[in-house]
Amino acid sequence: MLQRIVKPLLLLVLIVQTGRTYATEGMWLPQLLSTLNEKEMKGMGMKINASDIYNINKGSLKDAIVSFGGFCTAEVISNQGLLLTNHHCGYDAIQKHSTLQNNFLENGFWAKSAVEELPNPGLTATFIVRIDDVTKSALQDVKGGMSEKERQSAIDKRLNEIKQTVRKESWQDVMVKPFFEGNQYFLFVTETYKDVRLVGAPPSSIGKFGSDTDNWVWPRHTGDFSMFRIYAGKDGRPAPYSGDNVPLKPKYALPISMKGVKQNDFTMVLGFPGRTNEYLPSEGVKQTVEVLDAAKVEMRDAALKIMDGYMRKDAQIKIQYAAKYAGTANYWKKWMGEMQGVKQTNGIGKKQQYEAEYKQLLQANPVWKQQYAGTLDSLNGYYRQIQPYAQARDYYSELVKNVELFTASDRLISFLNDVHERGEGQFETLRQQFLESMQPFYQNYNAKVDHDICISLMDIYAKGVPKQYAGNEYQQIWIENNKDGRTLADQLYASSGLTSMDKLKSFIQQPYNTVVAQMWKDPATHLVMAMRKGFVENVSKPLSDIQSSINNLQRTYMQAQMDVMAGKKRFYPDANSTLRVTYGKVDGYNPRDAIHYDFYTYLDGVMEKYIPGDYEFDVPAKLIELYKKKDYGRYGVNGKMPVCFIGSNHSTGGNSGSPALDAYGHLVGLNFDRTWEGTMSDINYDPSICRNIMVDIRYVLFIVDKYAGCTRLIDEMKLVN
Ligand code: ARG
Ligand code: ASP
Repeated sequence: MLQRIVKPLLLLVLIVQTGRTYATEGMWLPQLLSTLNEKEMKGMGMKINASDIYNINKGSLKDAIVSFGGFCTAEVISNQGLLLTNHHCGYDAIQKHSTLQNNFLENGFWAKSAVEELPNPGLTATFIVRIDDVTKSALQDVKGGMSEKERQSAIDKRLNEIKQTVRKESWQDVMVKPFFEGNQYFLFVTETYKDVRLVGAPPSSIGKFGSDTDNWVWPRHTGDFSMFRIYAGKDGRPAPYSGDNVPLKPKYALPISMKGVKQNDFTMVLGFPGRTNEYLPSEGVKQTVEVLDAAKVEMRDAALKIMDGYMRKDAQIKIQYAAKYAGTANYWKKWMGEMQGVKQTNGIGKKQQYEAEYKQLLQANPVWKQQYAGTLDSLNGYYRQIQPYAQARDYYSELVKNVELFTASDRLISFLNDVHERGEGQFETLRQQFLESMQPFYQNYNAKVDHDICISLMDIYAKGVPKQYAGNEYQQIWIENNKDGRTLADQLYASSGLTSMDKLKSFIQQPYNTVVAQMWKDPATHLVMAMRKGFVENVSKPLSDIQSSINNLQRTYMQAQMDVMAGKKRFYPDANSTLRVTYGKVDGYNPRDAIHYDFYTYLDGVMEKYIPGDYEFDVPAKLIELYKKKDYGRYGVNGKMPVCFIGSNHSTGGNSGSPALDAYGHLVGLNFDRTWEGTMSDINYDPSICRNIMVDIRYVLFIVDKYAGCTRLIDEMKLVN
């Protein structure tokens, strides 16, 4: 019996497998799609052409995509410059407009008309006008045997020339970035709009539903979106904020599909992924997860527990620390997922196998052998060498980042350095600027919370960083405080002049020379300078020497992989905050033995998770009412309201707010996260479990229309059936 069904079964398996030979790994450059990807994309179901995605002669999809503030992506969804991005991308802006009385984070915000749209100084939206390959001219003066420094300055010289002579309009900007570890260079002509106003945001109980518990997790039920609008000068060009500015008339606005997606449907995500490291050698992957992620997780674990304790008890602290908490928790959790994912998929073992295969092919080819022999081994060797320094760096930077008294000291030191460099005559002006810049810092600062964080983190730092790296002066202070975080923190917070805005003001109201003299005596600043000195003397010099050898070898190894492994793997450049296209299919996955995850979630799931009054899982009354009445308008399907879905699009941090487009280039979802098992996709993409998470666009529309009643926004959009 068994024998007889084996054959047809085998055939079936083969068909299924060949049906799946598309590759979803990769963040591709939009201008190269027609040569590298178009055929495959069409094979996977795409109905438009590469030239509809990137075109410099007419409006194309890329003209609807902006880098949002440099940290997220957003897209234009109406011909009046309406922008869609994530709630967590707009979070800072929403928070800044919030007060206890008028809490937009908690209650949401909807501008009922254009005059109510709120300006956000400093927030920008950058379009990509054109991308050019400038590799040849950039590398023109590079010669073998140059040091990293010499090489870089030869390149910089050329890049300066290129930037000066590039064809562009006066209001446009230009930037050049290295790709493939510096083997290639591309130039971007960009347009940056500086008047970006807040238009709408759901309450956090929708936009951040599930909060940090659900962050990086599937199944997900978050309506993670917010809306902004780009304003331009009357001539349509970028202009600083002004009441006279007008909504931007974009070159292209994304049509919105009302159809939703099915299993295996083609999807693509356009956006600005920040940083990936897909071509690390095995030692680099090992170090990332086993040493560096572990150190950072340990520090943040402690800081977060303390913040959380206070935030649950105190409404004021909850507002002050909400954004900080979310920011710190985000990568804390991501790194944990990354550690686990690499282990689960045997990421290090697979890299080692890949390296063995690479070496074998290399050995068999005399030309490659001559060019690249030894590169990989040396690179792995340097990674072993850099490890203790990199670990000390990460402990140090996490300490200064998470103990805000140290952050404040750091900023005071920089301010005084600035005065020192520009001359005492500048003291008055710079003092005013410094005080202004510290205002928002102290607005969200609570010395009690910070004191407790300091205790824990100093203890961890002392355990984690070997004496010879931390330095003598720090060591002396540590010994004077009985090598005890609490003793040290008690003393710091009792007598430092940096624990409140008032203290800081009276401290720096004194004459320049007194401030400088007292700065040395302030215990917090004194400690920070001691630690900084230890770091600079014992860590940063060796670190940057080894790092420069690594950069050099990593570049050679990149080229070597592209030559030697050409038939085995398709190479795409690591993410570097430039515009990319990634594509995949709507699909579930099996995270663990016997568990399957479906690819869609519904409003029913929101109600399953609902915990009345909870700070993560509360549901607004109005939404419950709509759910009970099944009042989904034209946005529901078969009596259900879709919320989120997943697909195999290769994304990373920075892709948040990116549009998910269907085969026709119509907006079907809004990217905002990845699944827990797959957060290691930044160093070890694995198609079996790496999935991106998107909000269904119909849920976004449903919230805007039925929940918030902000129909004026729906009327601007182009909905297609
Ligand atoms: N993990 C997502 C990303 O990296 C969302 C983060 C915001 N959400 C949160 N609960 N902290 O940006
Ligand atoms: N949530 C991330 C972002 O903000 C996206 C990701 O890492 O998948 O960009």
